[in-house]
Amino acid sequence: MSKIKNEIKLTSKIMHDHFSTIASKYQSVRTLDTEPILHIKHRLDEKTNINMADVGCGDGRYSLEFLKIFDDSFYIHCVDYNENMLKSLETNLVEQNITNFCTRQGDANKLPLDTKSIDCIVTFNAIHHFDVPKFLSESLRSLNDDGRIFIYTRLRNQNAQSVWGKYFPLFTEMENRLYEFNELESHIKNADMKIHSTKTFEYSRTSSLDRLVHQAKNNHYSTFALYGEKLFGESLDTFQQNIENNFDDLEKISWTDGNTLIEIKN
Ligand SMILES: C[S@@+](CC[C@H](N)C(=O)[O-])C[C@H]1O[C@@H](n2cnc3c(N)ncnc32)[C@H](O)[C@@H]1O
Repeated sequence: MSKIKNEIKLTSKIMHDHFSTIASKYQSVRTLDTEPILHIKHRLDEKTNINMADVGCGDGRYSLEFLKIFDDSFYIHCVDYNENMLKSLETNLVEQNITNFCTRQGDANKLPLDTKSIDCIVTFNAIHHFDVPKFLSESLRSLNDDGRIFIYTRLRNQNAQSVWGKYFPLFTEMENRLYEFNELESHIKNADMKIHSTKTFEYSRTSSLDRLVHQAKNNHYSTFALYGEKLFGESLDTFQQNIENNFDDLEKISWTDGNTLIEIKN
């Protein structure tokens, strides 16, 4: 038991250090998907005066997209436990003269949000870092009566189909935090909540090998932070070899990324 606790503590520390280090360059190494933003807006029936919380918001790249597509009556609470991420977010949004937001440093498992104060909770690429039952129960407490939760994530099987899952050694084994759909579904049922809709997004990606190597070296997925230095170096060499063996044009490596959006109603 204490060994497991120590491992959890170590992973939490690795993740905290990872997100603190990557905060200032996060937007330059990650790919932003705007399709789920438009989909969520549509699902909210174009409502106005929406009070949203973006949990595990990081540097706010998704919060910013919501701020751009809703009118001035929209307000967003940006929640993350990493202070560097929130500092980057504030700098980005203040530079763009955006004022209808606040940052709340806090834990997804004990949300720093008032009871029944929020219309919609979104979380992008972060659910696998949370204690899902606690996050759902806290979301339920924070949401108004007809509130909604949107969880955007890559599932374990979707991760396995990515360029990393297919060609980067041990990537799927290392990334054992992601969920499959039925696991999330069972957490949602146990929380006495209902899945209102589910949508799969598929993106055709193309990148150069140089860019992929740059992303991996910069830990654009936190998975890479779980490799030791030596193992990472060896795996990166094998990755490059695998790509060279499977693609003719190293400027145009193509693959399909899949992500899932789950809409939950209480
Ligand atoms: C992969 S990043 C995603 C950031 C952002 N949603 C995006 O897609 O650009 C995950 C974020 O979740 C945050 N995070 C992880 N566990 C958390 C927790 N228990 N409570 C609050 N934030 C957490 C990390 O600090 C990090 O900023």
